[in-house]
Amino acid sequence: MIIKPKGCYDLLKEDARIYKHIEDVVDAYAAVYDYKFIRTPLFENAELFKRGVGESSDIVQKETYDFTDRSNRVLTLRPEGTAGVVRSFIENKLYADPSGINKLYYIGTMYRYERPGLGRNREFTQFGLEALGSDDPLIDAEIISFSVNVLRELGLDVTVHINNLGGKEDRENYKKALKEYLMPHINDLCEDCQKRIEINPLRILDCKVDADSDILKNAPDILKYQSEESEKRFKKVLEYLDYLDVDYEIDNTLVRGLDYYDYMVYELKLDDSLALGGGGRYNHLVSELDGPEVPCVGFACGIERIINCLKEKGLQDEYVDVYILAVNEEEKMKANILMQDLRLNGITCETDYLNKGLKAQFKDADRHNAKQLIILNSEMLQKGMINVKDNITKEETTVAEDEIIDHMLSLL
Ligand code: HAM
Repeated sequence: MIIKPKGCYDLLKEDARIYKHIEDVVDAYAAVYDYKFIRTPLFENAELFKRGVGESSDIVQKETYDFTDRSNRVLTLRPEGTAGVVRSFIENKLYADPSGINKLYYIGTMYRYERPGLGRNREFTQFGLEALGSDDPLIDAEIISFSVNVLRELGLDVTVHINNLGGKEDRENYKKALKEYLMPHINDLCEDCQKRIEINPLRILDCKVDADSDILKNAPDILKYQSEESEKRFKKVLEYLDYLDVDYEIDNTLVRGLDYYDYMVYELKLDDSLALGGGGRYNHLVSELDGPEVPCVGFACGIERIINCLKEKGLQDEYVDVYILAVNEEEKMKANILMQDLRLNGITCETDYLNKGLKAQFKDADRHNAKQLIILNSEMLQKGMINVKDNITKEETTVAEDEIIDHMLSLL
């Protein structure tokens, strides 16, 4: 038997049902927030992620799936969606849109060579939002509230953990101070952090191994290294959030694992769980990938992590509105017609496709959690009448055949 590759999974049964529901909610929210759907390739030239996500990031250093194709092109399965969206934005000159802003969203598969575990897969799905073209804190607040509202709609009351990384100059000043502070303690930190101090000392604040060390707890505070302009824009984002009833906690150690962020960064968490999603502002990625200067902000969320949280909370059973019981050919023909009429009226319905007896069909209806039963019977049909049974109260009624659709619509 051939089995699936490590870190991948088949989307089945309950998980598949929740997945489709999440997609529906994301689509519905994207419509009211006016974000347009975009799809970019599953693989891109490897250089895009090296330059986009950053050579110093764990993702590019340890986690990408790189391969050469039959013409020796070096390609990478996308580990995230932002770099591809930005590449497409530049390549298709979307920045020339007369509105000056592109609000985009995507739902798609990503690949990271990570150690698989709960909430960590090698193939996983993200839904993501990217707003390209505006530097206004209003759009930072929109992205944050959009992401929070999608999770709330799904039943997850997440908290926003938010930080301000500042502009390039603020970050350089902070990195210098952090490096000076960490250098005398460097041998007490993990091997990865000893490398990070040269490549990107900010990333040390995010280290999982040294997370509880006093050295990191006493590190200089990034919020104290912000210019007036950076502080002002961060305060404005928070002020907008206050009015949108979004709960947030300022977390001055939050730096995120990708190199492209400036100013506001955030993650969504449920208690102490792994982050369900994260994002922030990236005002220089478009120009770093050879496009014009275009300020952007975005977010992405792991759908598998949402599914895990929803399953932990317990789910409502799946049900059908109507189950039609039919045994002989005349009854089956009527079932055939009725099912189409009901379905075209938006009523979900099921029937027996295995020629089971009546008793087995009642059991089947219960397995489907049918709310109402239509019990067809040849003799009644000849009189133009149909039996309907409420499968919860067990109450039975007889309805004229030509009134059945209206009757079922009134019940459901
Ligand atoms: P990220 O924090 O790397 O950000 O990933 C976003 C979310 O993807 C995570 O919070 C998590 O839910 C999910 N995720 C990441 N890795 C895995 C994995 N191995 N298995 C399962 N789920 C995973 C980004 O990807 C940025 N592109 C977000 C962004 C968009 N920033 C600006 N725009």
